[in-house]
Amino acid sequence: MSMAMDINKIRNETLYCEDKIFLNSAGSSLSPTVVNEAVRHFLSEEETRGGYQVEEDRQHDINDFYHQAAILLNCKAENIAFAHDATDAYSKALSSIPFEAGDVIITSNDDYSSNQIQFLSLQNRYGIILHRINNLENGDIDLDHCKLLVEQHRPKLVAITHIPTNSGKVQDVKNIGELCADQQIIYLVDACQSVGQLSVDVQEIKCDFLSATGRKFLRGPRGTGLLYVSDRILNLGYAPLFIDGRGATWTAANQYKPADTALRFQMWEAPYAMLIGLAKAINYANQIGIKKIEGRNKQIMNHLRSKLAEIKEIKMYDRGSQLSNILTFRHIGLSVADIQKILDHHQVYCSISTREWGVIDFDKKGVESVIRLSPHYFNTIEEMDRVAQILSDVLSN
Ligand SMILES: Cc1ncc(COP(=O)(O)O)c(C=O)c1O
Repeated sequence: MSMAMDINKIRNETLYCEDKIFLNSAGSSLSPTVVNEAVRHFLSEEETRGGYQVEEDRQHDINDFYHQAAILLNCKAENIAFAHDATDAYSKALSSIPFEAGDVIITSNDDYSSNQIQFLSLQNRYGIILHRINNLENGDIDLDHCKLLVEQHRPKLVAITHIPTNSGKVQDVKNIGELCADQQIIYLVDACQSVGQLSVDVQEIKCDFLSATGRKFLRGPRGTGLLYVSDRILNLGYAPLFIDGRGATWTAANQYKPADTALRFQMWEAPYAMLIGLAKAINYANQIGIKKIEGRNKQIMNHLRSKLAEIKEIKMYDRGSQLSNILTFRHIGLSVADIQKILDHHQVYCSISTREWGVIDFDKKGVESVIRLSPHYFNTIEEMDRVAQILSDVLSN
């Protein structure tokens, strides 16, 4: 039987979590002390010896980033590339696919806004055709429609966001992965909000690419991310369009040789202090155990959802059979800005999600903005009670 999580220890290792209720891990979370210390230490080493010397001296720790990410995602270190953020990882993956005019991309209504912009950009420049999978009445992705679209259009790519930024649903990336694997279709998963929040296993999902960011539920530094690249993609020889001297070697005047591993998707330069910080953050999650983190997250979130459901003026907007640690809501009588002011006043940290981050979803819901609360395992049940109390006190006045 697995041991319970030591919340006191975790909170002691999360400086400044006591003077506020931090509910913005979907934005940029609080890092464990070990992460911040590692970054500061690395920067001071660079200050003393210069970046190149430190990079050489700390190779072992730098390599640990790839090992930790591989443990977390259930792959080999060779399948991992460091990225500057999730979008950097994602666009490198997209740029490696040899699209031709008329090629089809299938995505969901809930895919991240920047991904949608990139598909539209591909459509404008190369004549790519974009199809979106319908949602069922309950908000879930319609798997039958997905199958139909795949059979009708033989897409070059299926691209699905695991957890959207603007609502708490979890999309069924596993069943879509089965379908893509059966049909040998390239499958790209945006796991920016799910990696670090719940168990994400690339073997189970059967994806070819998976992108994630460091600063959100992984609790790493800003300006970090990662890309998983499958062996199949590496063996196919796919490489980013704008590959550089890290991803390839210039072998003759008119020739270059791409790297054998996912380093093919990485740039020569990297902020190594931040990379080391991300390695520590992933190691921290691995030490606790991602299944435990997922369990605790569900417990906290079920509690918060049920507490807010008791407040009749509050309307939650998250739909789907599986919900995540992103909760979105509005109040019937107060504006989103007013609610945020009240939460700010009580040191409850959260964010506002607006229409441009999920045009299709927001238009369907008929709202322009919602408050987004995103607790993580270091939060407590008492904090969830407190937030519900703040909202019900203010609203009943
Ligand atoms: C679902 C999703 N994908 C991608 C991103 C982009 O991440 P980044 O800002 O690290 O590029 C975000 C950021 O909020 C997101 O929520």
